[in-house]
Amino acid sequence: KGELLTLETMSTVEISTILQEAEQFANGKQWSPNTNLVVANLFFEPSTRTRYSFEVAEKLLGIHVLSFSEESSSVQKGESLLDTVKTFEAIGANALVIRHPENEYYKHIREELNIPIINGGDGSGHHPTQSLLDLLTIKQEFTSFKGLNVVIVGDLRHSRVARSNADVLKRLGAKVKIAGPKPWMAGFDSQYEHIDMDQAVAESDVVMLLRIQHERHEGTMQFTKEEYHQQFGLTIEREKHMKNEAIILHPAPVNRDVELASELVECERSRIFKQMKNGVSVRKAVIKRALSN
Ligand code: CP
Repeated sequence: KGELLTLETMSTVEISTILQEAEQFANGKQWSPNTNLVVANLFFEPSTRTRYSFEVAEKLLGIHVLSFSEESSSVQKGESLLDTVKTFEAIGANALVIRHPENEYYKHIREELNIPIINGGDGSGHHPTQSLLDLLTIKQEFTSFKGLNVVIVGDLRHSRVARSNADVLKRLGAKVKIAGPKPWMAGFDSQYEHIDMDQAVAESDVVMLLRIQHERHEGTMQFTKEEYHQQFGLTIEREKHMKNEAIILHPAPVNRDVELASELVECERSRIFKQMKNGVSVRKAVIKRALSN
């Protein structure tokens, strides 16, 4: 149906096709549907990058956009997710972009719909378009994923970005390792080698930092911000030990001076704003795929 729920079940061939199309959009490709089409962006969790880069992508493709916020919707009167999405289908949406706090929220609604869902992030589950834009950013830099040393650092347990990226990068041939507090590696440590931060910066081509998701820790943080930064953060000192061509990624929003030193957010090897820019091209490709099926 052109849906995009997770990359887990998508072949590397199809992933490469989406990346190729995204690259073409990044290089100025023009495409518009030849009929009036409507996409509804339904965000049940806060978002800046995902929400507005989808909106920019849709508007640049000439698609009508319905921008929904839970706070001002009939969800406040108790309307269910299923009734909300069926309403958007009934009033003419041709595809839905959904971010929702529940893992796999899409499982109980996708069979009830005749229009595709694009997952804009489900709980701590998956964030496929973030993963695609990370892949595009890495591909632009290194051309191929084969043999690349990638370390994913930080709050992996809560991270839908880590879950999407670790699996797909491994399938594409990268050597993926993990770093950060051991208890935060749950779900990853049986499959990926855990290394300390000094080894991570010394050997990696891509240092992928993750936001500490304070909202999902429920008051159980065992570090001060300063302690975390010194033990697991990309400090100014550590950055000096990175390989010459190595790059820094972070999905953002960034906790400055926690995951990385504030001065490094826009340093020469940072691709953080490039990732955001690539987000528009990737989302154009994903929207085109959803509406073309
Ligand atoms: N990276 C990302 O998903 O950012 P937002 O939460 O702002 O969409």
